[in-house]
Amino acid sequence: MDALEKIIQDHYVITMKDIIFEGHKILRLVAEEVENPITPELLTLGEQMMTFLKNSQDPKMAEELELRGGVGLAAPQLNISKRILAILIPDEEGNVQFEEIMYNPKIIAHSAQEVCLKSGEGCLSVEREVPGFVSRYKRVTVMYINHDNKEKTIKLKDHQAIVLQHELDHLNGVLFFDRINEKDPWEIKEGMEILD
Ligand code: NI
Repeated sequence: MDALEKIIQDHYVITMKDIIFEGHKILRLVAEEVENPITPELLTLGEQMMTFLKNSQDPKMAEELELRGGVGLAAPQLNISKRILAILIPDEEGNVQFEEIMYNPKIIAHSAQEVCLKSGEGCLSVEREVPGFVSRYKRVTVMYINHDNKEKTIKLKDHQAIVLQHELDHLNGVLFFDRINEKDPWEIKEGMEILD
């Protein structure tokens, strides 16, 4: 049974066992576009990915299932080389700030202004800390197919834009540390804004 068949079974719960880590070839591939309309299998996969993020952010579930907390997941991280990602960003009170399952997401416009997270980035597929600024566009306009097979265009900025770009990189075989300046990891590029 391949990873997709396994994950879309009724009552299957994605855990860290389903996640592949740096060094795995699939994480370095350009993932395949999905067909529109989205097949029922891939709609189920998207839901499963979102459930994983919800579980990972729920302290009880995360402990029970031994999950690391995550705000985004891309299908290649489950050994499924398709252009699908799930994003779930809570606000400071723990309420949902942004939640979306995206098929074939594409950045169609972006700001010149760049931004990065003060503490750098992390990834469920990278089980070590890699220090350094990861510079991202401050604003992006993203086009994708949603879970209802509708084509959507949305604008994201700051933290949400950073998460989107991190996940979208996974669909192109890029990991966050590829974007860190090896010689000077905390180099502040001209005009780059640093977010808490
Ligand atoms: Ni990641």
